[in-house]
Amino acid sequence: MLIHSASQLLTLSGGPQRGRALGNLGIIPNGAVVWQDEQIVAVGESEALRHAFPDEPQMDAGGKVVMPGFVDPHTHAIWAGDRSAEFEMRLQGKSYMEIMAAGGGIFSTVRATRTSSLESIVRQTRVRLWNMFNYGTTTAEIKTGYGLSTATELRMLQALLALDKEGPLEIVPTFLGAHAIAPEYEGQPDVYTDLICNTMLTVLQQWWPHNAPYHAMPFVDVFCETGAFTLEQSRRILTTAREMGFPLKIHADEFDNLGGASLAAELEAASADHLVKTSAEDIAALGRSDTVAVALPCTPFGLGEAEYTPAQAILEADGLLAIATDCNPGTAWCESMQFPLALACRYMRLTPAQAIAAATINAAAAIQRADRLGSLEPGKQADLLILSVDDYRHLGYRFGSNLVQTVIKKGHIYPV
Ligand code: NIG
Ligand code: FE
Repeated sequence: MLIHSASQLLTLSGGPQRGRALGNLGIIPNGAVVWQDEQIVAVGESEALRHAFPDEPQMDAGGKVVMPGFVDPHTHAIWAGDRSAEFEMRLQGKSYMEIMAAGGGIFSTVRATRTSSLESIVRQTRVRLWNMFNYGTTTAEIKTGYGLSTATELRMLQALLALDKEGPLEIVPTFLGAHAIAPEYEGQPDVYTDLICNTMLTVLQQWWPHNAPYHAMPFVDVFCETGAFTLEQSRRILTTAREMGFPLKIHADEFDNLGGASLAAELEAASADHLVKTSAEDIAALGRSDTVAVALPCTPFGLGEAEYTPAQAILEADGLLAIATDCNPGTAWCESMQFPLALACRYMRLTPAQAIAAATINAAAAIQRADRLGSLEPGKQADLLILSVDDYRHLGYRFGSNLVQTVIKKGHIYPV
């Protein structure tokens, strides 16, 4: 298949973009892209490629932008129920962590998820995944963390594997048994930490190859935060996971600076995420590492807070910056990558080009898939978007409506 006559073909070629190099879109004016089966075989100027591939079926992009599909590298998109009542409580003055400390927050969703059948969780989640896909997300990382027992966490992974198999959205699963101290272990965080290290991870390591033989190992993530897991507990969980061969992620500095970002850099985690209260020292550690800093601007927005990830400092320190939705029922029920992009332009002062690179090639790096996803280059998977606009800067500039017209996933075409 050949798509031609793109006003701007955004290739994002050349790999993940560090620091001030962020924002190189690799634009080909009047561009074209050719793929065979699931793989891109050529990108270039329209007339040249039409000449070189005369037998390929052709599709006219109609003078619109063609770009890689968005990669959403941080979501909690699988859950049951909703927390609209807590949203109202927050508007009346209760804080997110106060609600959680009183047994609500993450625990409300844990109760709803534990008591739902696998079929019901799959059904509720499927709706969100189609929304994400229609807004241009072709691959999403999705975390467990609303089970918090061995059996219920595995059930969430089972649901994710079933949804990935169904497609078309490609799912990269993460085990987040360390999302909160399970209610059964209230007041005994070290006992729950032991359970994760000694039981959950061991069971998962055995379970995974039987249930997901064609998938890479899932990520292991920890919510390192006052009221969740301390730095020491996070270190124990992540070090154990690393020794067992799991790739790592961390939730750090959403509300408090505990040093989680430096821990991520030290343990060579794929990413450190949230990073609102991150110290200069932690930013410097990230800048020296290959750990991707994932900003989640929907979260402060969703909580009505004024402080966002210090993106400029991260870029100044030569860090790798990505953007994600954090799609979850508590802080940020946002299914579209176009919205965090618009927030990042305003509150993190990224240009549209920087935000696009952070949401594609760098987002792919945050889930260790930059070899296969996030750019339009020969050899990469044919995951691309045709927008309804002719200038990429409409992304970021506009918000609240969908600028994606067609989604192409593994070479299959889905009109929106
Ligand atoms: O990334 N901070 C922890 N986890 C989510 C929120 C999950 C929830 O509230 O259900 C986050 O913001
Ligand atoms: Fe999160």
